Amino acid sequence: MDKIEAQKRIKKLRDEIARLRSAYHIENVPSVTDDVYDSLTRELKDLLVKFPEFTDLNSSENRVAGKALDKFVKVEHKTRMLSLNDVFNYEELDAWEKRVEKLLPADAKFNYFCEVKFDGLAVSLIYENGVFVRGATRGDGFIGEDITENLKTIQSIPLTLPSPYPQYIEVRGEAIMSKKTLVTLNKKNELEGKTLFANTRNAAAGSLRQLDPKLSAERRLDFFAYDIAEIKDLKINLQTHSEKHSLLKRLGFKMDHNEVICKNLSEVEDFIKKFEKIRESFPYGTDGVVISIDDLKLQETLGVVGKAPRYMAAFKYPAVRATTIVKDIKINVGRTGALTPLAIFEPTLVAGSTVSKATLHNMDQIERLDLRIGDTVVIEKAGDVIPKVVEVLPKMRTGKEKKFKMLEKCPACGGNVEKRAGGAGETVAYYCANPKCPAKNERYLEHFVTAFEIYELGPKILRRFKDEGLITDAGDIFTLTKEDIAPLERFGEKSAENIIKEIELKKKISFSRFLWALGILHVGEETARDLASNFGTLDKLAKASIEEINVLENIGPAVSQSVYDYFHDKNNLAFVEKLQKNGVVIKKEEKKKAGKFTGLTFVITGTLATMSREMAKEKVIALGGKVSGSVSKNTSYVLAGEEPGSKLKNAEKLGVKVIDEGEFLKMLK
Ligand code: IVH
Repeated sequence: MDKIEAQKRIKKLRDEIARLRSAYHIENVPSVTDDVYDSLTRELKDLLVKFPEFTDLNSSENRVAGKALDKFVKVEHKTRMLSLNDVFNYEELDAWEKRVEKLLPADAKFNYFCEVKFDGLAVSLIYENGVFVRGATRGDGFIGEDITENLKTIQSIPLTLPSPYPQYIEVRGEAIMSKKTLVTLNKKNELEGKTLFANTRNAAAGSLRQLDPKLSAERRLDFFAYDIAEIKDLKINLQTHSEKHSLLKRLGFKMDHNEVICKNLSEVEDFIKKFEKIRESFPYGTDGVVISIDDLKLQETLGVVGKAPRYMAAFKYPAVRATTIVKDIKINVGRTGALTPLAIFEPTLVAGSTVSKATLHNMDQIERLDLRIGDTVVIEKAGDVIPKVVEVLPKMRTGKEKKFKMLEKCPACGGNVEKRAGGAGETVAYYCANPKCPAKNERYLEHFVTAFEIYELGPKILRRFKDEGLITDAGDIFTLTKEDIAPLERFGEKSAENIIKEIELKKKISFSRFLWALGILHVGEETARDLASNFGTLDKLAKASIEEINVLENIGPAVSQSVYDYFHDKNNLAFVEKLQKNGVVIKKEEKKKAGKFTGLTFVITGTLATMSREMAKEKVIALGGKVSGSVSKNTSYVLAGEEPGSKLKNAEKLGVKVIDEGEFLKMLK
């Protein structure tokens, strides 16, 4: 990026960050998540390191967030309410430790104190002679808003302290709404046509900013104390941060029990890892772990720089959303010849790994997002693995972005591109019409071994075997011998033997997996299961008429046509015959066992506490039920875990019964 481009990008980033900041802190209606905000801020910071000449001290990144609202009385904090410096990985944590050690005497021995970082609203509480007299928000750190009356409605804030209490104490902590309360509140807001809160933090902030404390009380907030800013008492002499926590506990404050004293960073890391595992099911929103130097004298030595103490660090768990720039859109050729657009990104870190591309699925998706090459986009790791583009940030456009048009020729073989209606009926898809397209064949081989569960044959090995002339199509896989493979460079006896052993083992296959392996257009794993259990044998299906296929539940006209066409093509029949001749044995599909879930369709959403969604799906199928990815009027039950998302809303709209995990477990019994 040259200087002029950088200057323009910096301006764009500043404007967008300022807009998001105001939506978030002032209006309480964030348009994107924190991760997106953090990601844009990081990019800006990095650019300013490279181009320091564009630093602007009055700009938003150098200003403290969250101006006090006019409607509440402003109060000055006696001790500034600070923020925390973030670290995003263990290297940054190490670097923090090194900085700390440099500033402390060489012989200083110290412990770390680790605790959960709550994602709510920072609050200060003042008690005089054991009585709660004033509570305030953080505001800009120096001046906050007096929200005493609202805070008094929070059950976990003691109004009086048990004796012996200090003459004066200022407690700091986080006002927060539980995940469960947020779900209930959002349901109510939806019914009333009000805006939904994006997360527990906005819900807490929004609730405390109600001018009427009665409204605030309805929100059932919680408060967790984490620090003592000031204490006046001759008898109490606090030496460590952990002693502060013990005192707070004794004074009746709600404290989280996930806290430990650690001797070194390796123990700190253990705590971070341990909490990460339970974070999802933790009843409150958290965004990391706070790590402090436990000794208060050493804390004083380290002091504060800018608006954050040197003696504390916030370890932030990896973002699941981030922003990046779409450098290009390429076309992938799939096993059926489907041409799928793929976004190529400026590589960026999301949820702990670098993401450089994501499928855009089809042209409809590009149009829906109004995605152009050069756009800044929000990407998300769905289920923590597959990245996807969630939205475009149109305000980041420069005018140089280019619209994408589908190619007229297949990028792999130059064959003609055809437009066809998709399986689901609505989406239009593009296909390479050349039956001999090499890319298509390669993808098909990969699909075939997946369906046959021949794990030893990864994409690289398949390509190698093809290049060496050992296989020309999937049928040849079953005639490979150890002698074919062992002489190849980087293979040898042992790996050849493993490959052959596995192929032998997988030759026997269920009819449904076999059918899926054929790669018939629109026949995915679930459809293959439906067809197999209804027809029982390959012979019966191959001889079926379009109508006979079409009558089945869940099978539409596009699928029936495509299955019929497949078994009426000479080449396909020859391929199926070749597979059987080469030793593939199709096991008769067992009629789906009738179980207590026969005839029922489940949709599973959100995070379950006792099992993964995949396990829940298997349980439903084992009892004769079906699992679908989307809610419709045919859905019997929506099984909703924590943070269920839009599926729950759809269920409520359609009047589909929603069950929680407890009810589901009861049904399984
Ligand atoms: S100690 C020096 N401990 O995180 C500031 N903060 O990102 C004192 N927060 O403004 C912070 N949980 O609102 C501390 N266990 C915890 C926390 C915590 C949440 C918030 C706090 C602060 C923000 C900084």
